[in-house]
Amino acid sequence: MSKLRIVGLSVASADGHKILEDVSLEFAAGRRYGILGPNGSGKSSLVNALMGHPHYKITAGKILLGKEDIAHLPPDEKAQRGLFLGLQYPVEVEGVSWADFLRVALARQAGNRADFYEILNDLRRHASDLGFKNFDPDRDLNVGFSGGEKKRSEILQMLALRPRFAFLDEPDSGLDIDGAAALMAKLAKLDWPASLAVVTHNPQTLQSLQPDVIYVIKNGRLAASGGEPLIARLQSGGFKDL
Ligand SMILES: Nc1ncnc2c1ncn2[C@@H]1O[C@H](COP(=O)(O)OP(=O)(O)OP(=O)(O)O)[C@@H](O)[C@H]1O
Ligand SMILES: [Mg+2]
Repeated sequence: MSKLRIVGLSVASADGHKILEDVSLEFAAGRRYGILGPNGSGKSSLVNALMGHPHYKITAGKILLGKEDIAHLPPDEKAQRGLFLGLQYPVEVEGVSWADFLRVALARQAGNRADFYEILNDLRRHASDLGFKNFDPDRDLNVGFSGGEKKRSEILQMLALRPRFAFLDEPDSGLDIDGAAALMAKLAKLDWPASLAVVTHNPQTLQSLQPDVIYVIKNGRLAASGGEPLIARLQSGGFKDL
């Protein structure tokens, strides 16, 4: 159960536009991954489809967690099994406080006996480390948060939920320089054996993340995967030669 294997995944938009074709990737516990690719290549579609976002339809392939194919499970059941997505564009939810949203998500995690108020205390410390000065869990979820606060809000949820497989879609976008450095310091010190996959366009983020493997998505397909040599090749030549 310590691997998530994506096998031959094809994804279309809800209105039938083909976005991803035959993508196979895997994510293992305790390892770090970078997901790279040109704008519009399908990175966000991939991670949203993995999580079960209703705008994306899985038209072929499997998402295997151990032997179970979770491809068509609804998002909350994927979350129960330890998947988490930090969105590229976090959504505002009127009428639901940040704390209540988290309380529900934690309650759905099987076997989680953590004390909610202890978690909130930890989150206040994490928020301060991340430079989120006005973090107030009683505010409506992301409503009126600044762009950078919304991104930090996603990271705080991840830190509270401690997912086994975390996908962060451009967690660095819109963060100021200090915020981006604080984010990377936090991700470097996760105290549970997460599989962490980060979609990014930022060379600095990639350098801090030190991924074990990077996956390059281009035109909806997996164009390359690899370690250090591939990162070096991308940094000198960009995506055009893949
Ligand atoms: N409903 C739709 N109809 C047509 N095209 C769509 C639809 N939904 C998504 N797409 C297209 O799918 C492609 C992949 O989009 P996606 O958001 O996954 O890209 P991305 O790799 O995350 O890009 P970026 O780096 O800019 O965030 C884009 O060309 C997008 O316009
Ligand atoms: Mg995207």
